[in-house]
Amino acid sequence: MPFSNQTIWITGASSGIGEALAYTFARQRANVVLSARRVERLERVRLGCTRPNDHMVLPLDVAMPDTHEAAYGKIIERFGKVDILVNNSGVGQRARISETTLDVERRIMDVNYFGTLSVTHIVLPDMLKRNSGKIVVISSVLGKISIPFRSSYAASKHALHGYFESLRIELADTGVDISIICPGFIQTDISVHSLIADGKEHG
Ligand SMILES: NC(=O)c1ccc[n+]([C@@H]2O[C@H](COP(=O)([O-])OP(=O)(O)OC[C@H]3O[C@@H](n4cnc5c(N)ncnc54)[C@H](OP(=O)(O)O)[C@@H]3O)[C@@H](O)[C@H]2O)c1
Repeated sequence: MPFSNQTIWITGASSGIGEALAYTFARQRANVVLSARRVERLERVRLGCTRPNDHMVLPLDVAMPDTHEAAYGKIIERFGKVDILVNNSGVGQRARISETTLDVERRIMDVNYFGTLSVTHIVLPDMLKRNSGKIVVISSVLGKISIPFRSSYAASKHALHGYFESLRIELADTGVDISIICPGFIQTDISVHSLIADGKEHG
């Protein structure tokens, strides 16, 4: 199996796409590291994976970069390395630009863009030392186009393309790969947790 014995760190593993990826990778005999903020949900996902004792719950807020090095240290302590990082954490948006505060726009960038960059910075040096590894970015079809009421969300996903397309070329002579995935619309909790103009959840 292609992912057998690989350590795969998934951010945003407490629901939706990240949760589904966790079950899929676990079935492929990977060791999965499950990160997000809601620990009880991560624990439920771990127990739903095949071989639950081979996986790890690692609480993480991607918007708190000062905590990321210590979190990574716990993975290294347990598994020795990260073979694949799946940057999947994300927050959506349902807000008209004219009503949205700059603070809310920054919050979306902090999670979707800077959060992804921070976790990537943490794993990249060891991948380069080993000359192997894969960094996956879950973007969106809205990383390619934009639609109304998703301005900051689309901007955050577009920004990921600018950044990771550059990184992919910088890494061309190494064994480290970059994959940018652009899902279409998938029924998850993303709408529920999307931020409205004042920063509250859309519901
Ligand atoms: N569903 C779609 O139609 C669609 C389409 C294209 C792309 N995507 C992308 O797919 C990814 C997953 O979204 P989803 O649809 O599966 O939605 P979801 O079910 O709401 O999952 C979002 C995940 O991100 C985590 N997250 C949010 N803020 C976080 C933070 N500050 N730190 C760490 N984790 C955080 C959430 O966990 P906690 O709340 O527990 O922290 C949750 O596990 C996102 O990047 C989204 O933009 C979704």
